[in-house]
Amino acid sequence: MGKNENNVSTLPVTNRLVLNEEGLTAAKRSLEEGAVTPSYGPWREDIIKLLNGSLATELVCVLRYKRHHFTAKGLASPKIAEEFLVHAQEETAHADAIAERIVQLGGEPDFSPSTLQERSHADYDDSLDLKAMIKANLIAERVAIEAYSQMITMIGDKDSTTRRMLEGILSQEQEHADELSDWMTD
Ligand SMILES: [Fe+2]
Ligand SMILES: [Fe+2]
Repeated sequence: MGKNENNVSTLPVTNRLVLNEEGLTAAKRSLEEGAVTPSYGPWREDIIKLLNGSLATELVCVLRYKRHHFTAKGLASPKIAEEFLVHAQEETAHADAIAERIVQLGGEPDFSPSTLQERSHADYDDSLDLKAMIKANLIAERVAIEAYSQMITMIGDKDSTTRRMLEGILSQEQEHADELSDWMTD
């Protein structure tokens, strides 16, 4: 063992936990960028684009769950119909949080209905049969879980606020998928 091996003070300064003064100085400028500071670097635009894909997905999920809520009511499953409404409300909250974060990042949330389906990762569904509805929702939840998991890994520490928001949404999508897969087997 070399005599300096455990002596951290011999590490080059670039590997130490020190703030980048240039970044702090730059943060005092560009006030028009609001909460977005230099540490976002080139990732800001990519993150806004990813978030807009998720916003479209959440909005399509709201529409699908609402459609299922109102049409499942007539079927012999008022409890599941009510749960579809709860999911629709939770997907609405996800869409709102994502839109708010896009604006914080200096982007524009895309609510355009004419391109919603093509920009969404998950599909709309107008099945009339309860089992088919449950299956369509489970597929959509699994797609959302996969997309959010990939985004969380990609974003990592590039934008911890967005990552934490996505982690919260992801855990709720996992609960949705759990519930749906229980109903699939009932
Ligand atoms: Fe969601
Ligand atoms: Fe969900």
